[in-house]
Amino acid sequence: MARQATSDRKPLISGNWKMHHNHFEAIQTVQKLAYALTADDYDEVDVSVHPPFTDLRSVQTVLQADDVPIALGAQNVHQEEKGAFTGEVAPGMLAKLDVTYVIVGHSERRELFGETDEIVNAKAIAVLKENMTPIVCCGETLEERQAGQAESKVAAQIAGSLANLTAEVVGELVIAYEPIWAIGTGETASSDDAQQMCAHIRSLVKDQWGDAAAAAVRIQYGGSVKPGNAPELMAQPDIDGALVGGASLDPDDFARIVNFRLYQA
Ligand code: 13P
Repeated sequence: MARQATSDRKPLISGNWKMHHNHFEAIQTVQKLAYALTADDYDEVDVSVHPPFTDLRSVQTVLQADDVPIALGAQNVHQEEKGAFTGEVAPGMLAKLDVTYVIVGHSERRELFGETDEIVNAKAIAVLKENMTPIVCCGETLEERQAGQAESKVAAQIAGSLANLTAEVVGELVIAYEPIWAIGTGETASSDDAQQMCAHIRSLVKDQWGDAAAAAVRIQYGGSVKPGNAPELMAQPDIDGALVGGASLDPDDFARIVNFRLYQA
């Protein structure tokens, strides 16, 4: 099935390396990835990699030295500009490293580090202030899905995490729908379920920020995306990209996901 884009939203395939790859491994991985991708691929798909903080400078150097159009991403940020926040990294520090996309509110940050929608919202605003693009994550637990609460959970996360943003800004965001039960489990949401939730998110954006924002916002699916399931997921009209964990650690697998279009019937 060919992808039926409802607008000119260019797909964004992002690799979230989580707490994997030291800076030597990061350099190797991004070099192999750059080797596997072609100019045609970058014409069709935006690609980002999100290494740990300690790798950012090394990866930036590799990408710039070889003029590789892979965007540099971060996995997290602190919401304040500077100050006594031991161990934290400020948005301006990421911007100085030419970071383009910053993941905010990943479920692991929400579940393991207690990030609330309010914090996620402050982080998104802080990222935007530095002219970077937040990838705002949302998604339900298995219990919430089984209790029929998946849509209301995501609606609350969207309302809270995107509070106080204008329609123009929301149209430029990336929202990642990552059902928590599908992350790192090998279980993927069916393409129908993933499409349904991404369509729900787009309708939430439409209700609160209007048609133009809804048509422009890019919505990624994340949760056990692999080379084998990426083509079908990416064929869904409201899925504009993928936020890939485990499979992004392997440059060949990740390149095949970026190349999903070559495997679509
Ligand atoms: P996996 O692809 O390993 O399931 O991880 C998804 C994710 O959390 C990406 O941010």
